[in-house]
Order: sequence, then structure tokens, then C-alpha cells
Amino acid sequence: MNRSFGEKLTFWYAQNKRHLPWRDICDPYKIWLSEIILQQTRVNQGITYYQRFTQAYPDIFRLANAPADEVYKLWQGLGYYNRADNLMKTAKIVAGQYNGQFPDDFEKLKSLPGIGDYTAAAIASLAFGKKHPVVDGNVYRVLSRIFGVETPINTAKGKKEFTTLAFRLMAGHAPADFNQALMEFGALHCVPHHPDCETCMFKNSCFAASTHRQAGFPVKKPKAPVCNRYYYYFVIQVAHKGETCFYLKKRTARGIWRNLYDFPAIESASALEEPLDSIVLAQKTNLFEKLPYTTGTPSVVYRQQLTHLKVSAYFIPVFLTEPLSNGQKKSLFLVQQKQLTNFPVPRLIARYLQDIKHIK
Ligand code: ADE
Repeated sequence: MNRSFGEKLTFWYAQNKRHLPWRDICDPYKIWLSEIILQQTRVNQGITYYQRFTQAYPDIFRLANAPADEVYKLWQGLGYYNRADNLMKTAKIVAGQYNGQFPDDFEKLKSLPGIGDYTAAAIASLAFGKKHPVVDGNVYRVLSRIFGVETPINTAKGKKEFTTLAFRLMAGHAPADFNQALMEFGALHCVPHHPDCETCMFKNSCFAASTHRQAGFPVKKPKAPVCNRYYYYFVIQVAHKGETCFYLKKRTARGIWRNLYDFPAIESASALEEPLDSIVLAQKTNLFEKLPYTTGTPSVVYRQQLTHLKVSAYFIPVFLTEPLSNGQKKSLFLVQQKQLTNFPVPRLIARYLQDIKHIK
């Protein structure tokens, strides 16, 4: 008899699954904890942390009432500390607003901090037996290879298509078992590099194996290339009415950081040989007018990675003896040092301002 995809898969799972501490339990708290730990963490490393956390906090109330420093300490080594922050936030919400009981509803789960589509589906299916397919990297790989789905997985269309396919295949199976089986098959057998297709139960029906295109699945849409941009910021300092003041510039042009404030700058797609070379370029634009000025030592480089842009910035102190006469024309605002932190600025400017706070 020709067995279905789900039958083969769940049979394989029963024979091959790893015995992991968060498996074969249905305590939503522990399942949630394991899934948050396993986001961006390998299973072997995750086990140790899972055991530490469940020993220190056997239930959600213990975690909700734990001092933040203690939680960070237990989290140390896992990185991505916003996961630890969200862990504490969600523990407090579930303990305080849900009486310590995780909701079993997908949308309510998703409204909790740190819980997205994947984690909501994992909790709803593994803890509550609800029919929500989990679609993680393993699932994308297995389904795209076997069924030859070429829709890029990093698109909304792809995500929807794979979720629908997994949902359809799940019919007639216990959601918890089916989901874990699919992820486990990807983790152990249908691995990214050199999968052992000869011994695979799907070898006669797998699109990728029969076309020798295993390495081509899943398909990903190429990301837009990352460009470099260099900013040479002039931190123009001048005494005005007995106060140390700086010139800020409002960014009004389309593009990055629109409506934020930064310093007047020379922007360039390539690096100058020396940051101080930018002064010559600034003079050409008459930035300092005809006023006498002196310069300080340029800062170290400050970097910020935006989606398609790698920004490197240098800050060059420039000291004027009197304010610019036509600063306003250049959309420059003379701002007292103590007021600087009231302006919305890009992250790397905030970091710089934090670093120079001690300057009198
Ligand atoms: N990775 C993410 N969730 C997992 C789970 N429940 N079991 C094994 N690996 C995982």
C-alpha cells in the first residue's frame, strides 16, 4: 500500500527521534521556554540552558518574579539579549494577566513579546494539539526539496505557500507529532549539505533528488547588495551667550534618517585617505564661512549597519570663536550642549554624544 507523506514521516519520527527534554511533555511554559532558547541556538547548547532555566524557575511565576540580573546571568552566552528581555516581559504578562496559564489561541500567543508566527504555532501545536504547522528552516528545506517548490522562502508569498502546504499535509495526524517529525527529519536526515538521499524514504518521490538539485533548495531571493557610505561629521562648537553650543542639521532629504538631526557633514561613497581631508572639502562648500577655526582630533570610526547600507562615520571637532552668520540658511541649528539629547538623532550620533558627554 502506498503510504502518505505524513504516515511515512511520523513513522520515521517514532523510530529516529532524539530524546530531548522538552519533547513528549505538554507544559506550555516549558515548551515556550525551550522554543525561545532554541531561536538562533543549536539544540546541544540549548539543552544546558533549558535545564538551567527549568531548575531555577520551575514555573512561570518563579520566572516572572526573578530579578532581571539573575535572568541575564543564566542567559549569558546565548547572546541576543532582547530574547531574554522578551522572556521576562512575556512571563510577567502571562503570570499577571493570564493567571499563569498560556493562552491556547494562536493570535493571543502572537501578541506576547518575542512570540512570532513560528513560536506561536509551536506552542499552539506542541502544548495544545492545535492544527498550526510550524515552518522553520528545516521545514522549508524538506518541503521545497520533496515537492519542488521554487517560491523564494524569504518572501511573504513563499511563507504563505509553505504554511499552506504543511497545513494540508498535516491533515489526519496529531499536529504535535507531525510538526516535530517534519523539523526532526530536516535536522537529522534532509540536512543542508550532502543529504543521504540513497537511504531516504522519499527518494522515489523527491523532486530535488530525482533532478539532482538538492543544493538548489530552498530557493531564496537574493538580498539587495550592501553599499558603503562614509560620513565625515563636523562637530562645530562655539560659545554663545555663555553656553557651549553645537550646530545640528536637520535631515530633510529623502533617504536614510529623514527628519532626524545630525551634524553638518561631507558624505562619500568611498573612504577619504584621512578623516581630516574632509576639512578641505568642507571649506569648498564654505561651511565655516570666512571665520577662523581650529580642529580637534577626529574620533575613531563609528559604524552602523542598516538594511542595505554600511555606514562608517568620523566626528571631527571644529572650534569657532563666533557663531556662523548664515547658519540658518544651511538648516543649521545652534543647540546648547545640554539640549543635544533632546533631539532625535541616528543611533551612531547618539553613541558619539554619549561618548563625549564628559567634554566641558
Ligand atoms: N528547534 C526549534 N524548536 C525545536 C524543537 N522543539 N525540537 C528540536 N529542535 C528545535
